[in-house]
Amino acid sequence: MSSTPLVRARGLTRRALFRGAAASGVAWVLLPGCDAPYPPEDGPAYAPWRFPTDESRPEWLAVGAAILAASPHNTQPWRFAVSPDRVDLFADFDRHLGAMDGLRREMYLGLGCALENLALALAANGVHPAITLLPEGPDDAHIARVDLTADAAAATPDIARLYRAIPDRHTNRNAYAEGAAPAGLAEALEALIDDPRVGLTVLARAADRRRFRAETIAATRAIVDDAEMNRDNHRWFRTTQADIERHRDGPTLDASGNGAATRFFGKMLGDLDAETSGEYWVALTRDQHTTAGAFALLSTAARDDRAEQLVCGRIYQRMHLWATGVGLAMQPLNQLAERMDREQALGLPPRFTEPLVALAGADGPQMLFRVGYPWDAAFASPRRPVGWVAEEVG
Ligand SMILES: Cc1cc2nc3c(=O)[nH]c(=O)nc-3n(C[C@H](O)[C@H](O)[C@H](O)COP(=O)(O)O)c2cc1C
Repeated sequence: MSSTPLVRARGLTRRALFRGAAASGVAWVLLPGCDAPYPPEDGPAYAPWRFPTDESRPEWLAVGAAILAASPHNTQPWRFAVSPDRVDLFADFDRHLGAMDGLRREMYLGLGCALENLALALAANGVHPAITLLPEGPDDAHIARVDLTADAAAATPDIARLYRAIPDRHTNRNAYAEGAAPAGLAEALEALIDDPRVGLTVLARAADRRRFRAETIAATRAIVDDAEMNRDNHRWFRTTQADIERHRDGPTLDASGNGAATRFFGKMLGDLDAETSGEYWVALTRDQHTTAGAFALLSTAARDDRAEQLVCGRIYQRMHLWATGVGLAMQPLNQLAERMDREQALGLPPRFTEPLVALAGADGPQMLFRVGYPWDAAFASPRRPVGWVAEEVG
């Protein structure tokens, strides 16, 4: 929504209004032209979260699980071809973050997340998924061929637990308790890694957390100051209910971790410009997103290897499902990795590459996140329904 006539006539900037309103908490009378605030998780964009459905075909139920996976900026860069004995996962290269993911590395991590939910849902429903990654080679949109065979063995308790967490998993951007890391965290996360190419670093000591936090805030500042990255970051934000319903993707105000008053007024005022929105992101990163009991980094041996990115995405998704099941919150915090990609893509000095590699203790950091006890529950993000992204074949 562009500036209302009233806002313009009074010479007020949208940013000043937003700040003043949120800070004072005074009663607000609807300004002419402002949008009506809408409740969180309301409408068809959130319907896919009512999972599992009564769908009796496991392959279609599994696609319903796959679309609930995490993806960078909620881009949902996936398509599915479905038949009773096979599900194929494809990348939708048009759903790309541009300069925010210049190497398309995060896109492949997100596709790995979807593959993990797909495989878990099949295994939990009596189907063995035989997965072939990148059957047409690393550059092709065909990400995975999943052959399905009936599996008489009951799902293990571990698989059942992860599967049950699928509709409850949400990226939580609220403040987390800053005390010690949850007991046994590193061991529990390590136990979820089933591929020797993926390594885990957990930063739980106060000094390590301080360093990760400071570098992440600096990387956020660098992204916001990089006009191309900031523009491509902002492009996916959905502020109005009409936009959420139309696109059913992207980050939203309700998922931002902002308090109730800020979300309320933000919905009324509609879209902010990229610069203002970037400043809010820096402030949220400083005040809220970098609070945590621990930060963690997943790395792989070859950072540019598409198969390793997919495997790493699967493991991240598994970790988030595990955390959800035991009452812990998680949020990816990939600003450092995004700047590392940018430095690689443009041949820039390794301002963020060096500290990130040092923090990870590895050359190939892929997925950075925080874990902890949140002060508030997270809201769900919109999803494009199965009917928009999957077709029946064969
Ligand atoms: C590869 C990847 C990178 C991500 N990076 C970030 C990030 O840096 N900051 C953040 O807040 N969320 C990040 N996310 C989380 C997504 O924004 C989130 O999954 C998406 O908005 C959907 O929301 P949901 O996870 O609650 O379903 C990332 C997710 C993936 C898969």
